[in-house]
Amino acid sequence: MQVFHTAAELRAALAGQTATAFVPTMGNLHAGHVSLVELAKQSGQPVVASIFVNPLQFGAGEDFERYPRTLVADCEKLAAAGCDLVFAPDAAEMYPAPQTFTVQPPDSLANDLCGAFRPGHFSGVATVVLKLFNLVQPRVAVFGRKDFQQLFVIRELVRQFNLPIEIVAGDTLRCADGLAMSSRNAYLGASERIQAAQLQRELAAVAAAAQAGERDFEALAATAGRHLKMAGWRVDYVALRDAATLAAPTPGSTRLVVLGAAWLGKTRLIDNIETALGNPA
Ligand code: PAF
Repeated sequence: MQVFHTAAELRAALAGQTATAFVPTMGNLHAGHVSLVELAKQSGQPVVASIFVNPLQFGAGEDFERYPRTLVADCEKLAAAGCDLVFAPDAAEMYPAPQTFTVQPPDSLANDLCGAFRPGHFSGVATVVLKLFNLVQPRVAVFGRKDFQQLFVIRELVRQFNLPIEIVAGDTLRCADGLAMSSRNAYLGASERIQAAQLQRELAAVAAAAQAGERDFEALAATAGRHLKMAGWRVDYVALRDAATLAAPTPGSTRLVVLGAAWLGKTRLIDNIETALGNPA
């Protein structure tokens, strides 16, 4: 596996390569990332992964500084998973000049759900992903379903800018107790780690009720939020959306996604559960 830190080295290594499968990451990799690399490999194309903690997508007071940088261990995991090439630039390489041109998703998306609590986050994500796409020029790119809103933003980015890239979604990998795998789980203290699986349980209970025919979505979300608050979480949101549009469900909706973001101490966790919609009770 080759590891490059500059755009020039990356371009030289990819010259003449007509098709690659790309897995963008911020590093501190876990089994969930490895499963995305394995999905990329299924395309039969050489796999490129990037490791870059993107300052543009972190707001003031967020965890940019403390986000774990674990390049050596990450490269070992990527090599073991069969990744062919790693691009691990620093911020000066990705942003040699101030990034005054940015991708701005529409307010309805950028300021919704996680965007309402992380102003500028999805613009930062879309901007760096577009830059990475331009550098790697992949035919396929793989993103996790755990970041459901991010996946939606990237699909729209690709569609609206006519990028010739197939976006493949990887399923969320979970720990034995149901907690979604996330680099940020490493921030959790021992008792927080035990409590953390509650987020998934609450979202799953909402999904099960909706599938069973319950249609008072606001009440379902409010109940889940109340359970979390009673257990000591600080809840950003619990919301039910149409899984295809990310908008509020309509009578025509056939699949729902229940999304949640909440804090345990200083750690913000997100998760989501998709479900088919059963007939109304
Ligand atoms: O999901 C992530 O790890 C990041 O948001 C991404 C897509 C690599 C962009 O920095």
